[in-house]
Amino acid sequence: MRENELMIIENFLENKEEKVDVDDELYSKLMFFYKSALKQLEVQLDIIKDEFKIIYNYDLIDHIETRIKEPKSILKKMEKKKYSKTYVNLIEKINDVAGIRIVCTLKDDIFFIRDLIKNMPNIHIVKEKDYVTNPKKSGYSSYHMIVEVPVYLTQKTIYVKCEIQIRTLAMDFWASFEHKVKYKSEKGVTKKMSKELVNCAKMVSKFDSKMIELKT
Ligand code: GTP
Ligand code: MG
Repeated sequence: MRENELMIIENFLENKEEKVDVDDELYSKLMFFYKSALKQLEVQLDIIKDEFKIIYNYDLIDHIETRIKEPKSILKKMEKKKYSKTYVNLIEKINDVAGIRIVCTLKDDIFFIRDLIKNMPNIHIVKEKDYVTNPKKSGYSSYHMIVEVPVYLTQKTIYVKCEIQIRTLAMDFWASFEHKVKYKSEKGVTKKMSKELVNCAKMVSKFDSKMIELKT
């Protein structure tokens, strides 16, 4: 039994060219690794959240959200990016199967949290994107990290990729509003609407800067 299970993991880690079948048992087994990595990361971050609240009397983290990407969204993304739908492509190229969002109050906290994550001894940093310093054209702002999180299995430790998004409450408000607007309308948003959204993002950015001024 044990050997069998280990073989399954080895199969995933080797170049497995098998096609993704979201209804297959293999898919559920793969998702187990992502769910476990997300749990591991969430616990570590939850402890930091509580440590700051209880020990330092400061609400560094407002809240944490986690999600596993829906099977249909994974397949849609692979199609969009023109990857053949193999398990090896899913594992190697889709970085946001496991996602965690850390929402804080102040813009400065984003970088503080980023540094705390960087200093976690068991977390490997794969990639970082600073959309706080350089917002996207849409106006979107958040700090993104792709990290590898250890999952301590009985036979070995495997490292599983997770996407971390760190943003303020104000950025989170903008992002969820923009997401709703964009996904509601089938044709996408009008130019005018996009412009308005960029303007709103600028207001959010000003608001976040003002909050820092008020705090200091
Ligand atoms: P993709 O996940 O394929 O987009 O890969 P990427 O490397 O281009 O990702 P990027 O770091 O730009 O964004 C990843 C995630 O950030 C998305 O899945 C969204 O959750 C969020 N995001 C990025 N841009 C926007 C945006 O313009 N609006 C909103 N609401 N969310 C965004
Ligand atoms: Mg994504």
